[in-house]
Amino acid sequence: MVLKRSARGGVPPFIVMDVMRSANAREAAGHAVVHLEVGQPATAAPRGVLKAANRAMGAFPLGYTEAIGIQALRQRIAEHYQSFYNRAVDPDRIIVTTGSSGGFVLAFLAAFDAGDRVALADPGYPAYRNILLALGIDAVSLPTGAETRFQPSPALLDTVKGPLDGLIVASPANPTGTMLDPDALAALADYCCDRGIRLISDEIYHGITYDGRVETALAFTDQAVIINSFSKYFSMTGWRIGWMVAPDDLLRPIECLAQNLFISPPSLSQHAALATFDCGAELDANVRRYARNRQILLDGLPALGMDRLAPADGAFYIYADISRYGLDSDLFCARLLDEAGVAMAPGRDFDQARGGDFVRISFAGSNEDMEQAVARLARWVADNP
Ligand SMILES: Cc1ncc(COP(=O)(O)O)c(C=O)c1O
Repeated sequence: MVLKRSARGGVPPFIVMDVMRSANAREAAGHAVVHLEVGQPATAAPRGVLKAANRAMGAFPLGYTEAIGIQALRQRIAEHYQSFYNRAVDPDRIIVTTGSSGGFVLAFLAAFDAGDRVALADPGYPAYRNILLALGIDAVSLPTGAETRFQPSPALLDTVKGPLDGLIVASPANPTGTMLDPDALAALADYCCDRGIRLISDEIYHGITYDGRVETALAFTDQAVIINSFSKYFSMTGWRIGWMVAPDDLLRPIECLAQNLFISPPSLSQHAALATFDCGAELDANVRRYARNRQILLDGLPALGMDRLAPADGAFYIYADISRYGLDSDLFCARLLDEAGVAMAPGRDFDQARGGDFVRISFAGSNEDMEQAVARLARWVADNP
């Protein structure tokens, strides 16, 4: 008998993760691969975090914690808002999550009902759309391009037909790395406040910027949900730990959802993450490495035909137009992996309509990786004129 399968389970794949799987399989078969596909630091967590994790294993039973996280970490995150943004945040508004991915599930469930409409930029991080889809929430596409720095704006929101319940913004963004300057973010926050639209601000790449100043959406509204994570600047992807700053009216709903869905974020990761705020020197050295990687690519790619690149103000991505090669990005990436041993993410993951002309290049690896990648790409381009 054929049993029922839910429609919500039919979400598209997160293609980057599929590419990572193929790249790993290629490596396991004995071929060298330069990994430019996944957006994760090549570095381990900072040394202070590793020491704190070791200490915590001896000192605590590491059982469940409160669903919203241990008090010490919530307090420490609140202090981070003071030191990084010069902004006072009540620790009671901080909720520790299982990565920002867990934060999205909680935020979307708490803020929206099935059938609600949430706007987001295309290209954008694919999991926003796919999580919304799994929850029965409509993702309303805002097609952006180089002329709007791939970011939404009030003018673009005005073109949307029908009401909106939410807006997701990310600055710096994935896959483009572009940022909203503080005035542009303030304008979006005002637009949302005036129209009763819930703003979700993904601030996961704060700390990794090359140009311009980042500001938290908290500076402009207390009704937004702020999503953040220890994955990127703090170099702790696999520890699955992040946080959100929630508005007062969503605190209790999010706590109840978190209790039931996750019980608590990982205990060991919470104790370890406490130490990461004292590891600034090591973390800033990572950012300097990303800056050098970015320069290696910005210097090397144009000569190989990738001369239309998003500005990459922050994060560790370059979104590159590959239309001149005459291959759809899925095929381009598959061939590059097979023939050059370079893994990149096809643009279709980030923009279903126009992504066939783009790839996303992650430069979170080592300087040598970037040099290797440019050299391999140059050979491949020479072989495929
Ligand atoms: C924009 C953005 N938000 C959220 C995430 C998810 O990160 P995590 O769940 O590790 O915190 C990513 C990961 O690549 C991302 O690029």
